[in-house]
Amino acid sequence: MTLLRDPSILIVGGGPVGLCTGIALLKDGHQVALVDSGAHGAGWASGGMLAPLYEMAADPTCPEPYVEFALKSAEHWQELARTCAFDLQAPSLFLARTEEEAVALLSLRSRANGLGLDLTSVCVPAELTAQAAFQAPSERSLDPRAALNSLLTQFQLLGGELLTGQAEAIGSHQLGLVDGRTFEAETIILANGFGASSFGQSVPALKALSPVKGQMVRVAHPELASPIVRACRIYVLSRGGGLVIGATSDPLAAPVLSVDVDPVLALLAEAKELLPSVATALTIEAWAGLRPDTPDHLPLVGASGVDGIYLATGTYRNGWLLAPAIGTYLSELISGKTLDQALMNLLAPERFSS
Ligand code: GLY
Repeated sequence: MTLLRDPSILIVGGGPVGLCTGIALLKDGHQVALVDSGAHGAGWASGGMLAPLYEMAADPTCPEPYVEFALKSAEHWQELARTCAFDLQAPSLFLARTEEEAVALLSLRSRANGLGLDLTSVCVPAELTAQAAFQAPSERSLDPRAALNSLLTQFQLLGGELLTGQAEAIGSHQLGLVDGRTFEAETIILANGFGASSFGQSVPALKALSPVKGQMVRVAHPELASPIVRACRIYVLSRGGGLVIGATSDPLAAPVLSVDVDPVLALLAEAKELLPSVATALTIEAWAGLRPDTPDHLPLVGASGVDGIYLATGTYRNGWLLAPAIGTYLSELISGKTLDQALMNLLAPERFSS
C-alpha cells in the first residue's frame, strides 16, 4: 500500500475537470496527487466550447443556479487561460438558416440581454450561407489539446503530483490500480468522465452515468473571419490551420468509441450548407469521444455517499466550460465552506444514490 502525504487528496482523471479541480485545491493549500491513465478522454476529444449562452441559457428548462454557475465558470476561464498561457477564441457567430431559427435567435438575444450578455445582430459574412447572424463576444472556445498540456504544467508547478496508471477498484479512502498499486487518501475525487461509471458497484450514484458519443472532423481550410461559427447543432472552429467541425451527439447503450462514416458525412454535409467551400476541403482527421451524461443532464459534483469519495463527472456537453467552477466548488466543499444550497441540491451525486 502506498500512503500519500497526509492530509492528501487523490484525483482520478487528468482531463479538464480533474486538472482544474487539482489546481483549485492546490491554490487553497491542499496536497494533491492526480492519477491519469494517459488515454485520450472526452476533454481531449471535445471542441473546447465555453458557451453558457448557446449550450445552457438557451434551454428554458436549464435551472437558473446552474446557468449562473456556468457563467461564473466562463469568466474564470479568462483568468485561468492568462495564468496558464493559452488562448481563448472569441467571438462566436450564431447563424440562422431558416425563419424559425432566426426567431429562436431573437429570443436568445432577449435571454442574453437579461443575463447582461451581448448578442448583436450583424451582417452574414460573404463566405457563409445564412438568413441572419448574431455575434456573441462572451461565447468562447479553447484548443483542448493545448489547454490540457498547459493545465497539467500549471498543476505540477503548483506542487501537484502526477501518477500514471489505470484505476481499477475503489473503496472508502482507497484506490487500486490495474498494475497492483494501491493508494490510500483522505479524499478521493473521481473526475474521469464516463470512465467513472466502472465504479458503479462501489459508488451507486455512478450508475446514473451514460455515454453520449460525439464525433468531430478536421478539414484543411483557411481560417474564417469569425473563429467560432454555430448553427443549430453544429459548430465550425478555425483551429490549427484548418477547421474543426463538431459535433454529433448520440446517446449509446454501451460505450463505443468508433468513428462512423455516416454521422461524419452528415456533419460535413451540414457544414457545407453553411460554408459551401467545405465541399472541396481535404479531410485531415476524424475522432470520437464519450460525453458523460446523467438522466437530468446535470453533473455529479460533491460527496458520493461513500465515505472519502467525491465525484466530479457527468458534465455532459460542458466539461470544459464547467471545469473551473467545479474545481472552486469542490475545493470550498472539501474545505468546509458554506455553499449555495440551491446549487448543491442540483449537483449532489446523492440524488441518484438510491
Ligand atoms: N459542448 C459541445 C459539445 O459537447 O459538442
